[in-house]
Amino acid sequence: MLDLEAIRADFPILNQQVNGKPLIYFDNAATSQKPRVVVDAIAAYYNTINSNIHRGVHTLSQKATDAYELSRQKIQHFVNAKHSHEIIFTRGTTESINLVAHGFSQLLKKGDEIIISHLEHHSNIVPWQLACEKTGAVLKVIPINEKGELLMDAYEKLLTNNTKVVAINHISNSLGTINPIEEIIEKAHAKGAAVLIDGAQATAHLKIDVQKLNCDFYCSSAHKMYGPTGVGFLYGKEEWLKKLPPYQGGGEMIATVTFDKTTYAELPFKFEAGTPNIEGGIVFASAIDYINSIGLDNIAAYENELLHYATQKLSEIDGIKFYGTANHKTSVIAFNIGDIHPYDIGSIIDKLGIAVRTGHHCTQPIMDFYQIPGTIRASFAFYNTKEEIDELIKAIKRAQIMLK
Ligand code: ALA
Repeated sequence: MLDLEAIRADFPILNQQVNGKPLIYFDNAATSQKPRVVVDAIAAYYNTINSNIHRGVHTLSQKATDAYELSRQKIQHFVNAKHSHEIIFTRGTTESINLVAHGFSQLLKKGDEIIISHLEHHSNIVPWQLACEKTGAVLKVIPINEKGELLMDAYEKLLTNNTKVVAINHISNSLGTINPIEEIIEKAHAKGAAVLIDGAQATAHLKIDVQKLNCDFYCSSAHKMYGPTGVGFLYGKEEWLKKLPPYQGGGEMIATVTFDKTTYAELPFKFEAGTPNIEGGIVFASAIDYINSIGLDNIAAYENELLHYATQKLSEIDGIKFYGTANHKTSVIAFNIGDIHPYDIGSIIDKLGIAVRTGHHCTQPIMDFYQIPGTIRASFAFYNTKEEIDELIKAIKRAQIMLK
């Protein structure tokens, strides 16, 4: 059992009125709120050790470097990577995927194949389209069923000896579907393909073990994990990170530079050009500590309870239609009410203090599949409560009457 009162007290932002009503924050899949320890760690960094890293012999620079590298180790242990140099700091999941797709666009050739799925966020579609344009590789898409689950038989048929990369999200940001990534990875490896998992929606909800999964790449963003925006990570197996060319050129990613030739730094620095988001990288560790202090198993169990409660309560609303009813899903509920535009419901319930996301959620192909312009999406975190869900139901009923 979680001590919800104590947990909610850790998040000062939750204790406020929005439009004259207590804030109910159900947009956690877009970004999570930050506990006080994270907010305090940002100030502590700037008030005590702010300086550039990996560059100075002076004491502050060494302290900041140590804190940054400690954070890399925290991420390593959080996802159970074998080496800390397999963790690359990036601006977030999108940049991590771009880094890998850019690298492959120098390794792929015409006729090679990349497999993604119909459930991908645009950030796991567009970088691969760019790679295909550059190389002549072909993009193939795993189809889904009405429940928003991947059709695994179709996946098997898409795999060929030309498949070089399979890039799939662990959890759909729009529908909450948890994809069977173990099976996806195993089948891709049997064909010799590398596998990238977009874990943006997973790392705050499920325990990740990249060695057990045996994926080649896994990435996520700190801001989905109660940490700061503008920082994330890419895990890559050492052998793959060695094979991929650098993503960006600049300071600190080199071993030697002359006008004739540049040699690159060892991992992870080969992929970390320029002064990074030092504060974000360091504070990422506080977010991980916070998640660990609650425990991912406890988080998953409670969020599952919220999902079931909300699904049951919402299904009592006249005219509701759910999108994404997979057997395995996380605490994301997407729905529409009759033929009311999701934006109209979203705007009215915002006036009642409730934050949800409306629209296509950066997954236009999913909306096309269901032939809708968008959905209302409520996504829960462990600081949400059943009482808040009751308020959501009341607010939707009120909006429904107003929009009749
Ligand atoms: N990818 C984020 C979402 O699903 C922004 O809302």
